[in-house]
Amino acid sequence: MNTGERWFRSGGEGWYPGLYEWFFSKTRKGIALRAREEEIVYEMLATALEPDHLVVEFGSGTGNYTVPLARRCAGMVTVEVSEEMQGYLRERLLREGLTNVETRPGRLEDGLGTPEKFDGALAMGPFFYVRNLEEGLRTLIFKFIKRVGTSRIGITAVLRRVFVYSY
Ligand SMILES: C[S@@+](CC[C@H](N)C(=O)[O-])C[C@H]1O[C@@H](n2cnc3c(N)ncnc32)[C@H](O)[C@@H]1O
Repeated sequence: MNTGERWFRSGGEGWYPGLYEWFFSKTRKGIALRAREEEIVYEMLATALEPDHLVVEFGSGTGNYTVPLARRCAGMVTVEVSEEMQGYLRERLLREGLTNVETRPGRLEDGLGTPEKFDGALAMGPFFYVRNLEEGLRTLIFKFIKRVGTSRIGITAVLRRVFVYSY
């Protein structure tokens, strides 16, 4: 397997939730990266997210965005390819007493297998592992977001980290 193949494997292997959280909460680089990213995401959320909204999140990881979003909306579905990450998130949701999040195994590019539509779609990270960026974005916008017709679509993208909203 060459470097490109390694980079683009869209599998769930190699994710260590504890290590991931340590990097983003304890190292200078990780803290700075997360702070910048959160600033951009929360700025957009402040104008778009409503308490009655349903949000789908792909690549939820340790739940850094799942937990604050779930507190501010009606419900969420998370789709995560790594079993370790999913297990970590489930425990975290239990600890936090959050019951409005449904966690599902899967990959962004495979969809949900159902015709469900959401008010917002968050994908912070999995786009690093989606080969065809344009196709991935189209899927995110047209397959998962409600009311694409005449509504305004907001997209926040930071280096393959994407938040799409219909409002
Ligand atoms: C960089 S982490 C980001 C985690 C979280 N969104 C955050 O911002 O803290 C990327 C996550 O995407 C997941 N992932 C990778 N490829 C994926 C895919 N094709 N579909 C869904 N999730 C994927 C990984 O397992 C990992 O949990």
